[in-house]
Amino acid sequence: MTTKVFLTEEEMPRSWYNLAADLPSPPLPPLGPDGNPITPDMLAPVFPMNLIEQEVSTERWIDIPVGILEMLHRWRPSPLHRAVHLEKALGTPAKIYFKNESLSPAGSHKPNTAVAQAWYNKEFGIKRLTTETGAGQWGSALSFACSLLGMECKVFMVRISFDQKPFRKVMMQTWGGECVASPSSETNIGREILEKMPDTPGSLGIAISEAVEAAVSDESGQTRYSLGSVLNHVMLHQTIIGQEAKMQLAKFGEKKVDSVIACAGGGSNFAGLAFPFVNDKINGADIDIIPVEPASCPTLTRAPYAYDHGDVARMTPLLAMYSLGHGFIPPAIHAGGLRYHGMSPLVSQTVAEGLCNPRSINQLECYKAAVTFARTEGIIPAPETSHAIAAVIQEAEKAREEGVEKTILFGFSGHGLMDLKGYQLYFANELKDHELSEEDLIASLESIKDLPQIPHR
Ligand SMILES: Cc1ncc(COP(=O)(O)O)c(C=O)c1O
Repeated sequence: MTTKVFLTEEEMPRSWYNLAADLPSPPLPPLGPDGNPITPDMLAPVFPMNLIEQEVSTERWIDIPVGILEMLHRWRPSPLHRAVHLEKALGTPAKIYFKNESLSPAGSHKPNTAVAQAWYNKEFGIKRLTTETGAGQWGSALSFACSLLGMECKVFMVRISFDQKPFRKVMMQTWGGECVASPSSETNIGREILEKMPDTPGSLGIAISEAVEAAVSDESGQTRYSLGSVLNHVMLHQTIIGQEAKMQLAKFGEKKVDSVIACAGGGSNFAGLAFPFVNDKINGADIDIIPVEPASCPTLTRAPYAYDHGDVARMTPLLAMYSLGHGFIPPAIHAGGLRYHGMSPLVSQTVAEGLCNPRSINQLECYKAAVTFARTEGIIPAPETSHAIAAVIQEAEKAREEGVEKTILFGFSGHGLMDLKGYQLYFANELKDHELSEEDLIASLESIKDLPQIPHR
């Protein structure tokens, strides 16, 4: 039985797929402080113009420059596996496929956009990038990409992950990147937060504020900020995942997929796998598309669809997205990459328009699923990825109870070899579930109540 399908480098997609071209209603524009849509030049101190053009593009296909394809060839195309051993252990009639993004140099899907963003910045004459990182996957990915292009990279890593995953910093250093814990004393916003909350575990919202401040305060004009998720151009760069998966499913002989499942933090891993299938769904295909998030940070499942800032210091424009409030500091769960208050506007729109059905799962169920996966398929998943696996197991068990044969595809977004602290605590029974209480949710949403509302459409 075939359990893996590879593609050749020649078969790799040559264009990125832009879902903005096909959504039933046009994407809502980001708003400036005055409540009016921002113009591209307002973003120019933060991003290079070539990426800003991609951000606002509604072209369906955008060619991948050869220079980026050559960098992607270092690890792509990634294999599509059939998880036969997991299927057998679950006794399910479901067929389970997973797209393995853990084989990239940094260990996840993140380098797919890191090499693209670094390349466009370099084309624009930028010498140094600043960024945030949650789990450390994104900071490693951007450090790797900058090292390929001879650029400098500065990473603000959320404090809790910095402490939980010390070797991520060493990976970044190995690729020439510089990593500090956030909040740090290097920025105004970092110092302000440290004064008020010296023991804060940090959040992606804080780290983004620090990285943006560090970029725009460089008077040489040679530094820009790079975001590892959320924005439209990041979703775009990840769509090679879903495009490859489609070709590989066809090589497995599959004509139809019933469920597409991926974890969602800022949304890029989910978008990368799912958007090409969302297109099929818009064109009439019957597919259940499921983004999975932690119950402790339930952006898509419990937050309102609203305009909010992407960061704590409100430096970013207002984005139309599901948001728990920009000041939300999620509990210190181990899936650091899923601890974000907001969600990609494009992913948010697919949920608001009923194209995707989000689900939240608690961390203990996720670790149990991760261990089942490691003991059957062999690869130790990242804590973020384990959310997708837990949802896959729920679906596969449902298929067993109902006696239906179905085809499930999921995104194996990264390995967990740098995340073993969480496994250690899990085996010692020291991990807890954290469900967000209604009172905490209401308190957090205070920060968005006076912001512009999303218009009814
Ligand atoms: C392994 C892994 N999977 C998924 C995610 C979620 O990120 P996003 O939703 O932005 O793709 C992350 C983020 O750090 C990650 O490291």
